[in-house]
Amino acid sequence: MKYDKTIRLKDGRTLRLRNGVEQDARTALEIFILGHEQTDYLLSYPDENDMTVDEEAQFLAKKAASADEIELLAYIGDRIVGLAGIEKIGTFDKIRRRATLGLHVDQNFWGLGIGRALTRACVECARIAGYAQLELEVVAENQRAIALYQSEGFVEYGRNPRGFYSRLTGWQELTLMRLELD
Ligand SMILES: CC(C)(COP(=O)(O)OP(=O)(O)OC[C@H]1O[C@@H](n2cnc3c(N)ncnc32)[C@H](O)[C@@H]1OP(=O)(O)O)[C@@H](O)C(=O)NCCC(=O)NCCS
Repeated sequence: MKYDKTIRLKDGRTLRLRNGVEQDARTALEIFILGHEQTDYLLSYPDENDMTVDEEAQFLAKKAASADEIELLAYIGDRIVGLAGIEKIGTFDKIRRRATLGLHVDQNFWGLGIGRALTRACVECARIAGYAQLELEVVAENQRAIALYQSEGFVEYGRNPRGFYSRLTGWQELTLMRLELD
């Protein structure tokens, strides 16, 4: 999917949200790895990512050409500060109107409204793509993310006590959340 929007952040700076394209591959990989170094709330560790720049370029090109999936990049000037995406859960008739949402923001830029802007852009894209429901899983102690999702209308529908196994803290409970779009 294609997307391009500019907003003003809480501190007056301008944030551009747009779909990634092949040329963004190197910076997109950098922010992906940085985000996974900065928090223990994401699905994987930086050393588990073996994607090359070429593979990332192909991934971004595929998403840009997709009718119902997107990889969104958040830029302040030419610095990439966040990443978000929506992905189809499956193509079978019974589940094809469900999608998942994932995002992270460079910790140096937390609290400026970037996470909210990325969430809203994903919700907008999910509606345009025709999904009926957007879903996510979030570490139950990740209050910052949960407060954001709740304030954007997501509701909890369950818990998985053994969702992630952290190298640092052991089992992490996941809160399952969903947002109806129609
Ligand atoms: C969760 C995350 C995306 C939020 O990004 P952000 O840019 O800091 O978010 P925003 O500035 O838009 O703030 C959004 C909301 O978060 C909540 N929030 C912010 N700081 C908070 C804090 N210290 N405690 C609780 N809630 C907080 C508020 O509801 C805030 O909205 P408000 O400022 O309008 O009241 C970011 O912290 C992040 O990348 N975390 C690590 C990765 C992650 O957890 N991703 C989500 C995986 S499911």
